[in-house]
Amino acid sequence: MRIAVVGAGHVGLVTAVTFAHVGHDVAVTDTDAEKLSMLRAGECPFFEPGMQDLLTASLASGAVTVVDSVGEAVDAVEVAFVCVGTPPRASGEANLIAVERSVQAIAQGATGPLVVVEKSTVPAGTAERVGAILANAAPGVTFGVASNPEFLREGSAVEDSLHPERILVGADTPEAFEVMRRLYAPFTDAGVPLIETDVATAELSKHAVNAFLALKVSFINAVARVAEAVGADVRDVADLMGSDPRVGRGMLSAGLGFGGSCFHKDLLAFHHLSAQAGYDFRLLPEIIRLNDETVASVAKRVEDALWNPEGKKVALLGLAFKPGTDDIRFAPALELARLLFAKGAVVVGYDPQAGDAAKAEVPELELAASPYEAAAGASCLVLCTEWEELSELDMVRLGSVMSERLIVDGRNFLDAEAARAAGFTYSGVGHSK
Ligand code: UGA
Repeated sequence: MRIAVVGAGHVGLVTAVTFAHVGHDVAVTDTDAEKLSMLRAGECPFFEPGMQDLLTASLASGAVTVVDSVGEAVDAVEVAFVCVGTPPRASGEANLIAVERSVQAIAQGATGPLVVVEKSTVPAGTAERVGAILANAAPGVTFGVASNPEFLREGSAVEDSLHPERILVGADTPEAFEVMRRLYAPFTDAGVPLIETDVATAELSKHAVNAFLALKVSFINAVARVAEAVGADVRDVADLMGSDPRVGRGMLSAGLGFGGSCFHKDLLAFHHLSAQAGYDFRLLPEIIRLNDETVASVAKRVEDALWNPEGKKVALLGLAFKPGTDDIRFAPALELARLLFAKGAVVVGYDPQAGDAAKAEVPELELAASPYEAAAGASCLVLCTEWEELSELDMVRLGSVMSERLIVDGRNFLDAEAARAAGFTYSGVGHSK
């Protein structure tokens, strides 16, 4: 099938190469000319394991073509994916102007019947607006509208996209379902379940899933605070909770809290949508408040350990919001850096991928080329992102270059025994082991 992907960000580009990989012809476009030039040069604009290889292969085979405009992209396609940003307005409401403009351009460029698919996370009710734009803009062309939310995680996006647990398609016409079933046949033939709902249910499901995942993270971080106070170990509590299949162990790792572009934005947008619908879903902003409190509590622990933070150097290991990505949007490490700067500390960071992006976001942050360089002369080391390469730190070497031997393990990731054996005072989140 021929398909168009509008928006070449994390979601759009992964969608494009995934469909190319399973045999479809994909035209991808974006309003960012620099991004298009990078793609034409064969370069993936962001770091994501496995993406570069898939992109290289799909450009070389011609299965993905990069085009300048939505008009070119939708020429003779059966499906057009809208994968553009939906950032929050000051009120928390999702700003859908990029979605609106994309849909208008699709309507103007369409050369035959096609299904417009919302892949970006949008509030329930968006499809109705999309349908209205399509009906007004191109009266002669038959359009379907579908919601097909993305569940991929950064850092494992390629794997998640090639081997999804389930595919969700919301549509309101049999024709739209028929097209979406053909599109996903390579996956459903391999046994991946395709769940079909009405459009509003699919839209709402995406917000509900992300809000619930964020809730789990905030919940376990709140439990961690209690665990510290009563001498329990939150990791064992999480395992025990997770051993009940009704709870599930996923998203129950206590630490510095959640970051990334999705959870905050979606919680705000979901709250706004609920309020608009006449229901004040107060749990949703509370999840964000607990998350903010989580970083603040780790910052407080670092301050207490330093006694007088002024002028003391703190090394942050890991700056990306999670391992496997160079994305620093809402990264807890950067929020921690800001809190420590406010107390007069000097903050040096190291990250295998996200250093430059972090520095651009927080210019006062000093960057180091290795964990050991970051630790040199530092009074305290804070593990912020659990990159695999940081699991093998040489504690003796670290201790020998630091001015005080303090470790705050913000992800319960380091070898506490090895740290203590090297003379460190070690503390993790939600336990005293
Ligand atoms: C999240 C969802 O997991 C995806 O299903 C969804 O498609 C995506 O948002 C989206 O809407 O685009 P993502 O933000 O990439 O994916 O990453 P997650 O693995 O969910 O992690 C989010 C944050 O929670 C990270 O900062 C991570 O460190 C933190 N986290 C995760 C914890 O603190 N504890 C955990 O147990 C799990």
